[in-house]
Amino acid sequence: MPGLEETAELCQRARELQRSFGQTLHIAAFHHDVSELELSARVSPWDERAPGHVLVELFDVTARHQLDRESALLAQRGVSQRMLRQLAHEIRNPLGGLRGAAQLLERELDDPSLHEFTRIIIGEADRLEGLVAGLLGPGGRPDRRLVNVHEVLEHIAKLTASAAPELTVLRDYDPSLPDLLLDRDQLTQAFLNLARNASQATADSGTLVLRTRIATNHVLNARRYRLVALIDVEDDGPGVIDEIADTIFYPLVTGRKDGSGIGLPLAQELVNRHDGLIEFTSQPGKTVFTVSLPVLSEAEIEANQAS
Ligand SMILES: Nc1ncnc2c1ncn2[C@@H]1O[C@H](COP(=O)(O)OP(=O)(O)OP(=O)(O)O)[C@@H](O)[C@H]1O
Ligand SMILES: [Mg+2]
Repeated sequence: MPGLEETAELCQRARELQRSFGQTLHIAAFHHDVSELELSARVSPWDERAPGHVLVELFDVTARHQLDRESALLAQRGVSQRMLRQLAHEIRNPLGGLRGAAQLLERELDDPSLHEFTRIIIGEADRLEGLVAGLLGPGGRPDRRLVNVHEVLEHIAKLTASAAPELTVLRDYDPSLPDLLLDRDQLTQAFLNLARNASQATADSGTLVLRTRIATNHVLNARRYRLVALIDVEDDGPGVIDEIADTIFYPLVTGRKDGSGIGLPLAQELVNRHDGLIEFTSQPGKTVFTVSLPVLSEAEIEANQAS
């Protein structure tokens, strides 16, 4: 059993060297909230009345570390939102000029086959304008309707698979997941950004797993919820590089040559607007981005907004 061998080794060292040793242990949890417990272990020699005996103290630090992680993410959120807004302004200014210039150019072009190109410029400028409007909008409050999350994920699977035909997409859905009151467009964008990253991490040819679970009595953003939907986007790529692991949700942080570093902060912002949170764990061969969303009734959403 993992954890047990390390503890035995600590006992041995404490006995031989007659001093205390400490170590952090990770052991499997038989708990529905977490898959692993983080224990702080301390082993000290017993006093002379019991030579050879040691005292083993184990402290469960899982919850504390979870809170530390969440508050770091919350602090990033404030900075992130300000940067996204600033960035949206910077994009919006030249966008109008770009669109106008493309329209003028279109009128001057005699060859109608060239209109295809000006249409692309205008179409892409309009798409960016839509995105920017969403970022600058009136608080971007979600337009919530009852949404079947599995339907949204199926849409994501289709979009991702068509962009990366060699990618294997697996589903592991919890059929007991209820419909959630969500803004479908905002959540689709968030999941799409995660799925794109996962696909890109495997050079568009690995395995993407879309998984849903329901957790009861779950703490999220320092609040306890009766029901929380957990949606994993998992890939078997090489993992998040160490250099950016702590800042990955900040705008403009990227580990890819052609990346812009907008995908994750935008996804985090869209999920936060639903009182949810995105977290990740990563190691070579297994990276999991988990979107946690509280399952709320209309009355609970209104009460949250008022508080
Ligand atoms: N599943 C993943 N596996 C490994 N690294 C990842 C994964 N998801 C994100 N990353 C890392 O996080 C960085 C930031 O991701 P983010 O989506 O914010 O920006 P991006 O993908 O670089 O650019 P874009 O704005 O086009 O999405 C990525 O460049 C990549 O290095
Ligand atoms: Mg991305």
